[in-house]
Amino acid sequence: MIRSLDAVPGTVDRPLEGKKILLGVSGGIAAYKTPELVRRMRDLGADIRVVMTANAHHFVTPTSLQAVSGQPVRTDLWDHAAEAAMGHIELARWADVLLIAPASADLLARLALGRADDLLTTLRLATRAPVLIAPAMNHVMWLHPATQRNVATLVGDGNTVIPPDSGAQACGETGPGRLPAAETLAAAVLATLQPPRQMLAGRRVLVTAGPTREAIDPVRYVSNHSSGKQGYALARAARRAGANVTLVSGPVTLPEPAGITTIKVTSALDMQRAVQAHATDCDVFIGVAAVADYRPATPADQKIKKLPGRSGELVLTLTENPDIIAGVAALRPRPFVVGFAAETQSALANARDKRLRKGMDLIVVNDVARGDIGFNAAENDVTLIWDAGERHLPKSGKDAISDQIIEQIAALLASESRSTS
Ligand code: C5P
Repeated sequence: MIRSLDAVPGTVDRPLEGKKILLGVSGGIAAYKTPELVRRMRDLGADIRVVMTANAHHFVTPTSLQAVSGQPVRTDLWDHAAEAAMGHIELARWADVLLIAPASADLLARLALGRADDLLTTLRLATRAPVLIAPAMNHVMWLHPATQRNVATLVGDGNTVIPPDSGAQACGETGPGRLPAAETLAAAVLATLQPPRQMLAGRRVLVTAGPTREAIDPVRYVSNHSSGKQGYALARAARRAGANVTLVSGPVTLPEPAGITTIKVTSALDMQRAVQAHATDCDVFIGVAAVADYRPATPADQKIKKLPGRSGELVLTLTENPDIIAGVAALRPRPFVVGFAAETQSALANARDKRLRKGMDLIVVNDVARGDIGFNAAENDVTLIWDAGERHLPKSGKDAISDQIIEQIAALLASESRSTS
Protein backbone atom coordinates (compact mmCIF):
# COMPACT_ATOMS: atom_id res chain seq x y z
CA MET A 1 0.00 0.00 0.00
CA ILE A 2 1.28 3.45 -0.79
CA ARG A 3 1.34 5.35 2.50
CA SER A 4 1.36 9.12 2.73
CA LEU A 5 4.86 10.48 3.20
CA ASP A 6 3.69 12.43 6.24
CA ALA A 7 2.26 9.33 7.92
CA VAL A 8 5.64 8.04 9.08
CA PRO A 9 6.26 9.27 12.61
CA GLY A 10 9.59 10.97 13.22
CA THR A 11 10.51 11.08 9.55
CA VAL A 12 8.23 13.85 8.39
CA ASP A 13 11.02 15.99 6.92
CA ARG A 14 13.40 13.49 5.32
CA PRO A 15 11.78 10.04 5.30
CA LEU A 16 14.19 8.82 2.56
CA GLU A 17 17.32 9.90 4.48
CA GLY A 18 20.31 7.79 3.44
CA LYS A 19 18.28 5.60 1.06
CA LYS A 20 20.05 4.73 -2.16
CA ILE A 21 17.75 5.04 -5.14
CA LEU A 22 18.78 3.99 -8.61
CA LEU A 23 16.49 5.81 -11.06
CA GLY A 24 16.09 4.31 -14.54
CA VAL A 25 14.73 6.73 -17.14
CA SER A 26 13.49 5.46 -20.50
CA GLY A 27 12.42 7.21 -23.67
CA GLY A 28 8.96 8.64 -23.19
CA ILE A 29 7.74 12.23 -23.11
CA ALA A 30 7.25 11.98 -19.32
CA ALA A 31 11.05 11.73 -18.99
CA TYR A 32 11.06 15.55 -18.97
CA LYS A 33 9.53 15.31 -15.47
CA THR A 34 12.41 13.29 -14.01
CA PRO A 35 14.64 16.21 -12.91
CA GLU A 36 11.74 17.32 -10.69
CA LEU A 37 11.36 13.73 -9.41
CA VAL A 38 15.08 13.58 -8.56
CA ARG A 39 14.88 16.92 -6.75
CA ARG A 40 11.84 15.83 -4.77
CA MET A 41 13.49 12.57 -3.67
CA ARG A 42 16.74 14.36 -2.79
CA ASP A 43 14.74 16.87 -0.71
CA LEU A 44 13.37 13.84 1.15
CA GLY A 45 16.93 12.73 1.93
CA ALA A 46 17.62 10.15 -0.80
CA ASP A 47 20.95 9.54 -2.49
CA ILE A 48 20.19 9.17 -6.23
CA ARG A 49 22.01 7.81 -9.22
CA VAL A 50 20.44 7.99 -12.64
CA VAL A 51 20.68 5.56 -15.55
CA MET A 52 19.11 6.52 -18.88
CA THR A 53 18.25 4.43 -21.91
CA ALA A 54 19.58 5.72 -25.23
CA ASN A 55 16.11 6.95 -26.24
CA ALA A 56 15.61 8.88 -22.98
CA HIS A 57 18.18 11.39 -24.32
CA HIS A 58 15.53 12.60 -26.80
CA PHE A 59 13.40 13.91 -23.91
CA VAL A 60 15.78 14.98 -21.12
CA THR A 61 19.50 15.72 -21.06
CA PRO A 62 22.03 13.85 -18.92
CA THR A 63 23.39 17.27 -17.96
CA SER A 64 20.08 18.23 -16.26
CA LEU A 65 19.88 14.93 -14.42
CA GLN A 66 23.54 15.14 -13.42
CA ALA A 67 22.99 18.65 -12.08
CA VAL A 68 19.97 17.71 -9.94
CA SER A 69 21.31 14.33 -8.75
CA GLY A 70 24.83 15.61 -8.10
CA GLN A 71 26.19 12.40 -9.64
CA PRO A 72 27.35 11.36 -13.10
CA VAL A 73 24.54 9.92 -15.20
CA ARG A 74 25.12 6.62 -16.99
CA THR A 75 23.70 5.22 -20.22
CA ASP A 76 26.31 2.98 -21.74
CA LEU A 77 27.09 -0.52 -20.51
CA TRP A 78 30.43 -0.25 -22.33
CA ASP A 79 31.62 3.07 -20.84
CA HIS A 80 35.09 2.06 -19.59
CA ALA A 81 35.71 5.17 -17.51
CA ALA A 82 32.34 4.86 -15.73
CA GLU A 83 32.79 1.11 -15.25
CA ALA A 84 36.17 1.75 -13.67
CA ALA A 85 34.58 4.18 -11.18
CA MET A 86 31.61 1.96 -10.28
CA GLY A 87 30.99 -1.16 -12.34
CA HIS A 88 27.44 -2.05 -13.27
CA ILE A 89 27.32 -4.99 -10.86
CA GLU A 90 28.55 -2.72 -8.09
CA LEU A 91 25.84 -0.20 -9.05
CA ALA A 92 23.22 -2.97 -8.96
CA ARG A 93 24.43 -3.93 -5.45
CA TRP A 94 24.58 -0.28 -4.31
CA ALA A 95 20.86 0.33 -4.83
CA ASP A 96 18.31 -0.07 -2.02
CA VAL A 97 15.63 0.22 -4.69
CA LEU A 98 15.51 0.47 -8.48
CA LEU A 99 12.79 2.88 -9.62
CA ILE A 100 12.12 2.89 -13.37
CA ALA A 101 10.19 6.03 -14.30
CA PRO A 102 8.96 6.54 -16.89
CA ALA A 103 8.94 2.99 -18.28
CA SER A 104 8.10 3.10 -22.00
CA ALA A 105 6.15 0.33 -23.76
CA ASP A 106 9.38 -0.85 -25.38
CA LEU A 107 11.21 -1.00 -22.08
CA LEU A 108 8.33 -2.98 -20.50
CA ALA A 109 8.62 -5.49 -23.35
CA ARG A 110 12.39 -5.81 -22.92
CA LEU A 111 12.06 -6.17 -19.14
CA ALA A 112 9.28 -8.75 -19.48
CA LEU A 113 11.49 -10.80 -21.81
CA GLY A 114 14.39 -10.63 -19.35
CA ARG A 115 16.69 -8.98 -21.89
CA ALA A 116 20.00 -7.38 -20.89
CA ASP A 117 20.67 -5.37 -24.04
CA ASP A 118 21.55 -2.06 -22.37
CA LEU A 119 22.72 -0.80 -19.00
CA LEU A 120 19.25 -0.33 -17.46
CA THR A 121 17.89 -3.78 -18.38
CA THR A 122 21.17 -5.35 -17.24
CA LEU A 123 20.94 -3.57 -13.88
CA ARG A 124 17.37 -4.81 -13.45
CA LEU A 125 18.56 -8.41 -13.82
CA ALA A 126 21.66 -7.87 -11.70
CA THR A 127 20.05 -6.21 -8.68
CA ARG A 128 18.59 -7.93 -5.65
CA ALA A 129 16.87 -4.68 -4.65
CA PRO A 130 13.10 -4.33 -5.08
CA VAL A 131 12.14 -2.98 -8.50
CA LEU A 132 9.39 -0.37 -8.93
CA ILE A 133 8.18 0.30 -12.45
CA ALA A 134 6.11 3.37 -13.36
CA PRO A 135 4.87 2.98 -16.96
CA ALA A 136 3.92 6.12 -18.88
CA MET A 137 2.83 6.24 -22.50
CA ASN A 138 -0.03 7.00 -24.88
CA HIS A 139 -3.25 5.48 -23.49
CA VAL A 140 -3.86 3.26 -26.52
CA MET A 141 -0.35 1.83 -26.19
CA TRP A 142 -0.91 1.31 -22.44
CA LEU A 143 -4.19 -0.54 -22.98
CA HIS A 144 -2.82 -2.71 -25.80
CA PRO A 145 -3.00 -6.41 -24.84
CA ALA A 146 0.72 -6.82 -25.54
CA THR A 147 1.58 -4.07 -23.01
CA GLN A 148 -0.88 -5.45 -20.46
CA ARG A 149 0.59 -8.94 -20.96
CA ASN A 150 4.10 -7.56 -20.29
CA VAL A 151 2.87 -5.74 -17.19
CA ALA A 152 1.25 -8.97 -15.88
CA THR A 153 4.53 -10.83 -16.49
CA LEU A 154 6.52 -8.17 -14.63
CA VAL A 155 4.10 -8.24 -11.68
CA GLY A 156 4.26 -12.05 -11.65
CA ASP A 157 8.07 -11.83 -11.57
CA GLY A 158 7.82 -9.83 -8.33
CA ASN A 159 8.19 -6.26 -9.64
CA THR A 160 5.87 -3.57 -8.31
CA VAL A 161 4.09 -1.75 -11.11
CA ILE A 162 2.77 1.70 -10.19
CA PRO A 163 -0.30 2.20 -12.39
CA PRO A 164 -0.26 5.35 -14.54
CA ASP A 165 -2.64 8.21 -13.84
CA SER A 166 -5.49 9.05 -16.18
CA GLY A 167 -5.89 12.47 -17.73
CA ALA A 168 -4.84 14.72 -20.59
CA GLN A 169 -1.85 13.31 -22.46
CA ALA A 170 0.99 14.96 -24.36
CA CYS A 171 -0.54 13.63 -27.61
CA GLY A 172 -3.70 15.68 -26.95
CA GLU A 173 -5.86 12.68 -26.08
CA THR A 174 -7.20 11.69 -22.68
CA GLY A 175 -6.82 8.37 -20.88
CA PRO A 176 -4.59 6.27 -18.63
CA GLY A 177 -0.86 6.61 -19.25
CA ARG A 178 0.37 9.69 -17.38
CA LEU A 179 3.37 9.41 -15.08
CA PRO A 180 2.07 9.78 -11.49
CA ALA A 181 3.20 12.85 -9.51
CA ALA A 182 6.70 12.88 -7.97
CA GLU A 183 5.01 12.73 -4.56
CA THR A 184 3.22 9.47 -5.45
CA LEU A 185 6.40 7.87 -6.82
CA ALA A 186 8.38 8.91 -3.74
CA ALA A 187 5.65 7.46 -1.50
CA ALA A 188 5.81 4.17 -3.43
CA VAL A 189 9.58 4.05 -2.91
CA LEU A 190 9.12 4.71 0.79
CA ALA A 191 6.45 2.00 1.13
CA THR A 192 8.80 -0.48 -0.57
CA LEU A 193 11.75 0.35 1.63
CA GLN A 194 9.77 -0.06 4.81
CA PRO A 195 9.22 -3.79 5.03
CA PRO A 196 5.50 -4.55 5.11
CA ARG A 197 4.22 -5.34 8.55
CA GLN A 198 4.03 -9.12 8.74
CA MET A 199 0.39 -8.94 9.74
CA LEU A 200 -0.37 -12.51 8.68
CA ALA A 201 2.91 -14.14 9.72
CA GLY A 202 2.31 -17.78 10.62
CA ARG A 203 -1.21 -17.76 9.10
CA ARG A 204 -2.26 -20.07 6.28
CA VAL A 205 -4.37 -18.43 3.61
CA LEU A 206 -6.30 -20.22 0.86
CA VAL A 207 -7.43 -18.12 -2.12
CA THR A 208 -9.58 -19.03 -5.14
CA ALA A 209 -9.22 -16.97 -8.32
CA GLY A 210 -10.29 -16.72 -11.94
CA PRO A 211 -13.28 -18.19 -13.74
CA THR A 212 -14.37 -21.82 -13.94
CA ARG A 213 -15.10 -23.62 -17.21
CA GLU A 214 -18.07 -25.97 -17.40
CA ALA A 215 -17.84 -28.45 -20.25
CA ILE A 216 -20.65 -28.67 -22.82
CA ASP A 217 -18.69 -31.24 -24.83
CA PRO A 218 -14.95 -31.95 -25.22
CA VAL A 219 -14.33 -28.65 -27.07
CA ARG A 220 -16.95 -26.23 -25.73
CA TYR A 221 -17.65 -24.72 -22.36
CA VAL A 222 -19.70 -22.21 -20.37
CA SER A 223 -17.59 -19.59 -18.54
CA ASN A 224 -17.27 -15.86 -17.70
CA HIS A 225 -14.92 -12.89 -18.17
CA SER A 226 -13.02 -13.15 -14.86
CA SER A 227 -9.30 -12.42 -15.48
CA GLY A 228 -8.04 -13.67 -12.10
CA LYS A 229 -6.18 -10.38 -11.53
CA GLN A 230 -7.88 -9.52 -8.23
CA GLY A 231 -7.48 -13.03 -6.77
CA TYR A 232 -3.81 -13.20 -7.78
CA ALA A 233 -3.23 -9.71 -6.34
CA LEU A 234 -4.80 -10.79 -3.04
CA ALA A 235 -2.71 -13.97 -2.93
CA ARG A 236 0.43 -11.85 -3.44
CA ALA A 237 -0.70 -9.32 -0.79
CA ALA A 238 -1.28 -12.14 1.73
CA ARG A 239 2.21 -13.42 0.91
CA ARG A 240 3.69 -9.94 1.41
CA ALA A 241 1.97 -9.87 4.80
CA GLY A 242 3.86 -13.04 5.77
CA ALA A 243 1.17 -15.69 5.17
CA ASN A 244 1.72 -19.16 3.78
CA VAL A 245 -0.52 -18.96 0.70
CA THR A 246 -2.22 -21.59 -1.47
CA LEU A 247 -3.95 -20.35 -4.61
CA VAL A 248 -6.60 -22.46 -6.37
CA SER A 249 -6.87 -20.95 -9.82
CA GLY A 250 -9.29 -21.44 -12.67
CA PRO A 251 -7.98 -21.02 -16.25
CA VAL A 252 -6.27 -17.61 -16.56
CA THR A 253 -3.36 -16.21 -18.57
CA LEU A 254 -1.50 -14.83 -15.53
CA PRO A 255 1.91 -16.19 -14.53
CA GLU A 256 2.10 -18.28 -11.34
CA PRO A 257 3.04 -15.91 -8.50
CA ALA A 258 6.42 -16.46 -6.84
CA GLY A 259 6.43 -18.03 -3.36
CA ILE A 260 2.82 -19.24 -3.57
CA THR A 261 1.57 -22.81 -4.04
CA THR A 262 -0.69 -22.65 -7.09
CA ILE A 263 -3.19 -25.42 -7.90
CA LYS A 264 -4.67 -25.15 -11.39
CA VAL A 265 -8.25 -26.33 -11.87
CA THR A 266 -10.83 -26.08 -14.64
CA SER A 267 -14.42 -26.67 -13.47
CA ALA A 268 -16.35 -25.66 -10.34
CA LEU A 269 -16.35 -29.28 -9.18
CA ASP A 270 -12.52 -29.44 -9.60
CA MET A 271 -12.23 -26.17 -7.65
CA GLN A 272 -14.50 -27.48 -4.90
CA ARG A 273 -12.38 -30.66 -4.55
CA ALA A 274 -9.14 -28.65 -4.32
CA VAL A 275 -10.67 -26.25 -1.79
CA GLN A 276 -12.07 -29.06 0.36
CA ALA A 277 -8.64 -30.69 0.44
CA HIS A 278 -7.11 -27.54 1.99
CA ALA A 279 -9.94 -25.65 3.74
CA THR A 280 -9.69 -27.39 7.10
CA ASP A 281 -6.00 -26.61 7.09
CA CYS A 282 -6.19 -22.83 6.67
CA ASP A 283 -6.83 -19.82 8.92
CA VAL A 284 -8.30 -17.60 6.21
CA PHE A 285 -10.27 -18.57 3.09
CA ILE A 286 -10.70 -15.87 0.44
CA GLY A 287 -13.10 -16.86 -2.36
CA VAL A 288 -12.41 -14.47 -5.23
CA ALA A 289 -13.11 -16.94 -8.04
CA ALA A 290 -16.06 -16.23 -10.32
CA VAL A 291 -17.43 -19.75 -9.96
CA ALA A 292 -20.03 -20.69 -12.57
CA ASP A 293 -23.35 -21.06 -10.77
CA TYR A 294 -24.56 -23.68 -13.25
CA ARG A 295 -22.95 -26.39 -15.40
CA PRO A 296 -24.30 -28.43 -18.30
CA ALA A 297 -26.15 -31.33 -16.66
CA THR A 298 -24.79 -34.01 -18.99
CA PRO A 299 -21.71 -32.91 -20.94
CA ALA A 300 -21.50 -34.81 -24.23
CA ASP A 301 -18.66 -37.34 -24.59
CA GLN A 302 -18.16 -36.35 -28.23
CA LYS A 303 -18.28 -32.98 -29.97
CA ILE A 304 -21.91 -32.02 -30.56
CA LYS A 305 -22.50 -31.91 -34.31
CA LYS A 306 -24.62 -29.42 -36.18
CA LEU A 307 -26.87 -32.01 -37.70
CA PRO A 308 -28.65 -31.25 -40.97
CA GLY A 309 -32.36 -31.38 -40.43
CA ARG A 310 -32.13 -30.61 -36.68
CA SER A 311 -34.45 -27.74 -35.73
CA GLY A 312 -32.97 -24.24 -35.19
CA GLU A 313 -32.65 -24.73 -31.42
CA LEU A 314 -30.38 -26.81 -29.28
CA VAL A 315 -31.47 -26.90 -25.64
CA LEU A 316 -28.76 -27.08 -23.01
CA THR A 317 -29.93 -28.25 -19.59
CA LEU A 318 -27.95 -26.76 -16.73
CA THR A 319 -27.65 -28.00 -13.19
CA GLU A 320 -26.59 -26.01 -10.14
CA ASN A 321 -22.96 -26.07 -9.01
CA PRO A 322 -22.14 -26.39 -5.32
CA ASP A 323 -21.51 -23.07 -3.57
CA ILE A 324 -17.85 -23.44 -2.64
CA ILE A 325 -17.66 -20.56 -0.19
CA ALA A 326 -20.85 -21.54 1.64
CA GLY A 327 -19.38 -25.05 1.97
CA VAL A 328 -16.25 -23.65 3.63
CA ALA A 329 -18.34 -21.38 5.90
CA ALA A 330 -20.31 -24.45 7.07
CA LEU A 331 -17.18 -26.28 8.27
CA ARG A 332 -16.62 -26.61 12.03
CA PRO A 333 -14.04 -25.47 12.98
CA ARG A 334 -13.81 -23.14 10.05
CA PRO A 335 -11.42 -20.51 8.74
CA PHE A 336 -12.16 -16.77 8.60
CA VAL A 337 -14.22 -16.61 5.41
CA VAL A 338 -13.94 -13.73 2.93
CA GLY A 339 -16.09 -13.56 -0.21
CA PHE A 340 -16.52 -11.23 -3.14
CA ALA A 341 -19.64 -9.87 -4.77
CA ALA A 342 -19.68 -8.29 -8.20
CA GLU A 343 -23.05 -6.59 -8.36
CA THR A 344 -24.77 -4.62 -11.10
CA GLN A 345 -27.62 -3.18 -9.02
CA SER A 346 -28.25 -2.29 -5.35
CA ALA A 347 -24.66 -3.39 -4.75
CA LEU A 348 -24.42 -2.76 -1.01
CA ALA A 349 -27.86 -4.11 -0.09
CA ASN A 350 -27.33 -7.27 -2.14
CA ALA A 351 -23.86 -7.77 -0.70
CA ARG A 352 -25.05 -7.40 2.92
CA ASP A 353 -27.67 -10.04 2.22
CA LYS A 354 -25.15 -12.32 0.43
CA ARG A 355 -22.69 -12.12 3.32
CA LEU A 356 -25.29 -13.42 5.75
CA ARG A 357 -26.75 -15.99 3.36
CA LYS A 358 -23.36 -17.56 2.61
CA GLY A 359 -22.05 -17.28 6.18
CA MET A 360 -19.08 -15.07 5.29
CA ASP A 361 -17.17 -13.06 7.90
CA LEU A 362 -16.30 -10.33 5.39
CA ILE A 363 -17.60 -9.52 1.92
CA VAL A 364 -15.83 -7.33 -0.63
CA VAL A 365 -18.31 -5.74 -3.01
CA ASN A 366 -17.77 -3.94 -6.27
CA ASP A 367 -20.31 -2.30 -8.49
CA VAL A 368 -19.43 -3.76 -11.89
CA ALA A 369 -22.19 -1.79 -13.61
CA ARG A 370 -19.66 1.12 -13.68
CA GLY A 371 -17.60 -0.74 -16.29
CA ASP A 372 -14.23 0.87 -15.40
CA ILE A 373 -13.48 -1.42 -12.43
CA GLY A 374 -13.71 -5.06 -11.43
CA PHE A 375 -13.78 -7.78 -14.11
CA ASN A 376 -10.67 -7.69 -16.30
CA ALA A 377 -9.73 -4.13 -15.25
CA ALA A 378 -6.39 -3.18 -13.64
CA GLU A 379 -8.18 -1.17 -10.97
CA ASN A 380 -10.92 -1.71 -8.48
CA ASP A 381 -13.10 0.33 -6.12
CA VAL A 382 -14.66 -1.73 -3.37
CA THR A 383 -16.58 -1.64 -0.11
CA LEU A 384 -15.79 -4.06 2.70
CA ILE A 385 -18.71 -5.25 4.82
CA TRP A 386 -18.40 -7.27 8.03
CA ASP A 387 -20.63 -7.80 11.06
CA ALA A 388 -19.54 -4.64 12.85
CA GLY A 389 -18.60 -2.24 10.09
CA GLU A 390 -18.30 -1.14 6.49
CA ARG A 391 -15.33 0.51 4.79
CA HIS A 392 -15.03 2.01 1.32
CA LEU A 393 -11.68 1.66 -0.46
CA PRO A 394 -11.58 4.26 -3.26
CA LYS A 395 -10.50 3.39 -6.81
CA SER A 396 -6.93 2.18 -6.92
CA GLY A 397 -4.71 -0.51 -8.49
CA LYS A 398 -5.65 -4.09 -7.59
CA ASP A 399 -2.36 -4.52 -5.66
CA ALA A 400 -2.98 -1.47 -3.47
CA ILE A 401 -6.63 -2.50 -2.89
CA SER A 402 -5.43 -6.00 -1.95
CA ASP A 403 -2.97 -4.69 0.64
CA GLN A 404 -5.83 -2.77 2.28
CA ILE A 405 -8.16 -5.79 2.21
CA ILE A 406 -5.42 -7.91 3.81
CA GLU A 407 -4.87 -5.23 6.48
CA GLN A 408 -8.58 -5.29 7.29
CA ILE A 409 -8.66 -9.11 7.45
CA ALA A 410 -5.61 -9.09 9.75
CA ALA A 411 -7.23 -6.47 12.00
CA LEU A 412 -10.47 -8.48 12.22
CA LEU A 413 -8.56 -11.71 12.92
CA ALA A 414 -6.57 -9.95 15.62
CA SER A 415 -9.64 -8.54 17.30
CA GLU A 416 -11.36 -11.94 17.00
CA SER A 417 -14.58 -10.07 16.39
CA ARG A 418 -16.12 -12.86 14.32
CA SER A 419 -18.68 -15.17 15.73
CA THR A 420 -17.35 -18.73 15.94
CA SER A 421 -20.74 -20.23 16.73
O1 C5P B 1 -23.49 -15.42 -5.46
P1 C5P B 1 -22.26 -14.88 -6.10
O2 C5P B 1 -21.74 -15.73 -7.21
O3 C5P B 1 -22.35 -13.43 -6.45
O4 C5P B 1 -21.19 -14.95 -4.91
C1 C5P B 1 -19.88 -14.56 -5.11
C2 C5P B 1 -19.00 -15.15 -4.04
O5 C5P B 1 -19.31 -16.52 -3.83
C3 C5P B 1 -17.55 -15.13 -4.46
O6 C5P B 1 -16.76 -14.99 -3.28
C4 C5P B 1 -17.36 -16.50 -5.11
O7 C5P B 1 -16.01 -16.93 -5.06
C5 C5P B 1 -18.27 -17.36 -4.26
N1 C5P B 1 -18.89 -18.49 -4.99
C6 C5P B 1 -18.53 -19.78 -4.67
N2 C5P B 1 -19.15 -20.84 -5.29
C7 C5P B 1 -20.12 -20.62 -6.20
C8 C5P B 1 -20.50 -19.31 -6.53
C9 C5P B 1 -19.86 -18.25 -5.91
O8 C5P B 1 -17.64 -19.98 -3.85
N3 C5P B 1 -20.69 -21.67 -6.78
